[in-house]
Parts: sequence; C-alpha cells; structure tokens
Amino acid sequence: MMQQGKDYYNKAMDLVSLPLEESPWKYSYESAAAFIDPADTVLEIACGTGRFAKKLQLKGHASENYFGIDFSDVRIKEAKRYVPDFVFKATDAFDLDQLLYVRLGWFDTFVALEFLEHIENDLEFLDLVPKDSKIIASVPNFNTVDHVRYFPALSSVLGRYGKTIKIERTITRQIMDKPRFKVFIIKGIKC
Ligand SMILES: C[S@@+](CC[C@H](N)C(=O)[O-])C[C@H]1O[C@@H](n2cnc3c(N)ncnc32)[C@H](O)[C@@H]1O
Repeated sequence: MMQQGKDYYNKAMDLVSLPLEESPWKYSYESAAAFIDPADTVLEIACGTGRFAKKLQLKGHASENYFGIDFSDVRIKEAKRYVPDFVFKATDAFDLDQLLYVRLGWFDTFVALEFLEHIENDLEFLDLVPKDSKIIASVPNFNTVDHVRYFPALSSVLGRYGKTIKIERTITRQIMDKPRFKVFIIKGIKC
C-alpha cells in the first residue's frame, strides 16, 4: 500500500487493456458519465488507457470538448489507440496549473476517476483545480498495492473531501461483479 511511480503503471497493463465492455470499472464509468453533459469541456486527470473517454464518446461527447492526461506514457499511447479522435497527453497531474487551457479557464469540468486514492497529496492536488469548476471523482472501498488510502464507507469520502468539494450528488457502484468491491462516485463544485 504505497504511492507508485509511472514505471509501475507503465507495466501494470493487464486489467486496463480490457475493452470498455469487459472492464471491471464499466459500471462506475457509466455512473460518472451520467454526470457529464456532451457540451461540458472536460479535462480528465489520470485518464489511464482511455476507457472512460470511450464511454463519453459513445454517449456523443464531442472530441474537441475532451482532453485527457496521465503520467504513464504507455497508458497514454493505448488511450490514443483506443480513442483516436480524442486528445491525450502524457503529463503529471501535479502540473495541472501549467497547462495552457487550464490557465485560460477553458475547462469547466474536471474528472478524476480512481486517482485520489493513488496519491499521498490528494488534497494538495485538488487545490490545483480552479475554484467553481465541476468535479467528478471516484474512489474505492478496498485496498491494493498501489492505493495509499481507501474509503470503508461513503461517510469517509465526504469527511475527507467535503471541505474542498461542495458535494452535490453521490453514487455507490459495485465493481468486478463482486458485491464487496465498491466505488463511490461524487459530483460537486470545487470550493
Ligand atoms: C487506477 S488508474 C485509473 C485510471 C483511469 N482514471 C480509470 O479509471 O480507468 C490510476 C491512474 O493514475 C495515474 N497516475 C498516478 N499518479 C499520477 C500522477 N502523479 N500524474 C498523472 N497520472 C497519475 C496512473 O498512471 C493510472 O493510470
């Protein structure tokens, strides 16, 4: 249970290479996508192999309204192969405020699925997200070698992020077809 560098994610490609319809996270992607309008200008942080981007594309999201970043160049390469019309870039999430279109205020929606539990400085990272932006995030209720924390119940998610994000909606979804493994999806506005 510790924070991992990009070399780890470059090698851990098995589950994340499954197509969207076979992905263990397909139900949580579905719930997160329900919080996004096709006209939203989306920056997806830690977008991985683009499976959520594919979900948005299938829902009719315009390619010019999506930009995905992840520090794993191997995952970004796979995302570009899987969703060729969408734009992805190998970038560290902590360089968020250096991205030109973030500085210009172009994105109204920031998505971070299964990311905040992977980094020690999750609250510092959230501070980089512009105030009043829409945020959609998901975190799990279980531990793995690459998590630095997990959330036994929705109340622990609200306790950790409720001061940084004005949380408006939550959804709890089972993943991996096993009732014990759950993901909490939150939608809110960055304070
Ligand atoms: C569990 S995966 C989630 C991927 C994707 N969001 C999804 O739900 O399919 C965590 C992702 O965080 C990325 N990641 C971890 N630390 C990062 C950082 N500092 N900057 C950018 N990406 C990072 C990893 O490369 C990995 O793709």
